[in-house]
Amino acid sequence: MQDLSELQRQIESIKAEIRQNAGELKNSKELYELKKNFLDSKQGKLSQLMKGMAQVPNELKSQFGKAVNEAKQWSLTFFDEFDTKLKEQELKLRYESEKIDITMPAEKIKPGKLHPITTVRNQLVDIFAGMGFSVFEGAEIETDFYNFTALNTPQDHPARDMQDTFYLSPEFLLRTQTSAGQIHVMESNKPPIKIISPGKVFRSDDDATHSPMFSQMEGLVVDEGITLCDLQGSLNMFVKQIFGEETTTRLRPSYFPFTEPSVEVDVSCFQCGGKGCKLCKGTGWIEVLGAGIVNKKVLENCGIDSDKYSGFAFGLGLERIAMLKYGINNIKMLFESDLRVLDQIDE
Ligand code: PHE
Repeated sequence: MQDLSELQRQIESIKAEIRQNAGELKNSKELYELKKNFLDSKQGKLSQLMKGMAQVPNELKSQFGKAVNEAKQWSLTFFDEFDTKLKEQELKLRYESEKIDITMPAEKIKPGKLHPITTVRNQLVDIFAGMGFSVFEGAEIETDFYNFTALNTPQDHPARDMQDTFYLSPEFLLRTQTSAGQIHVMESNKPPIKIISPGKVFRSDDDATHSPMFSQMEGLVVDEGITLCDLQGSLNMFVKQIFGEETTTRLRPSYFPFTEPSVEVDVSCFQCGGKGCKLCKGTGWIEVLGAGIVNKKVLENCGIDSDKYSGFAFGLGLERIAMLKYGINNIKMLFESDLRVLDQIDE
């Protein structure tokens, strides 16, 4: 037989237990577990009290039930309030631990960009494609025949000394000039021919403005009635787009075995406008490329009728154009891949 004062005693002792246990809780997860100990519908200590109901006389049953329910209600409120308190503390700790200093400088992300030589090559290809030229990709390993002999530079020709050649064998070499591509193109195409051919070339040469490997771009046009005027007209179009609208060209007599007449092409100094400055060494002009009218012998070597057709050819150094355009005074800067240097070159 249960009496109500015994029940009250039990309830008070459970409440005391709840308060004491709650004082030792570290986080809301532990609170959840504790809550189960008392309120779980089967095992919970408060729920268990209801089992005593069987022994309670009928007239006391409602008071008994009320007392247990009140105790349950009390504990629910107690646990809720305690839970809120714990969660607030946890949030505060989380904020502390995840605190970030928004005044700290961010790590810079550098986007990649094209190498200046690639940029210059792309620009040149675009410009000449705009004039109707197509691109021919030659090979870096050539035979002596294509690099020299067919270009009217036989074995004993003194012009071979103009270019210090890397021979791989008596027959094979690393091409010294993209001009080797001229022969391939003329052998396998009939005029009209209008190509450019960018690529790497190799010469045993090494100083501030020369490197054993550098890049050239060849141009070749063969058709009826091609003259030096066509050459200069095409080159004018190109220099204006690369160095500025005011830029012009002048042709100076020169010598290449595969062109006759041959010329060196200068551009008017785009820095001083022709008055004379450090860049143009006071002359108002800067040498940029070699060119000429394709030697009749070269046309004939390729089976092209030199009475009917004529052509012009030119060859320019991409590094030289890039150095002029970006104000670089040592060619090595273009090959060292030093980002401190390359980052400063802006298109
Ligand atoms: N191949 C020559 C050189 O490398 C340049 C050139 C090309 C000259 C075409 C005339 C015609 O020096």
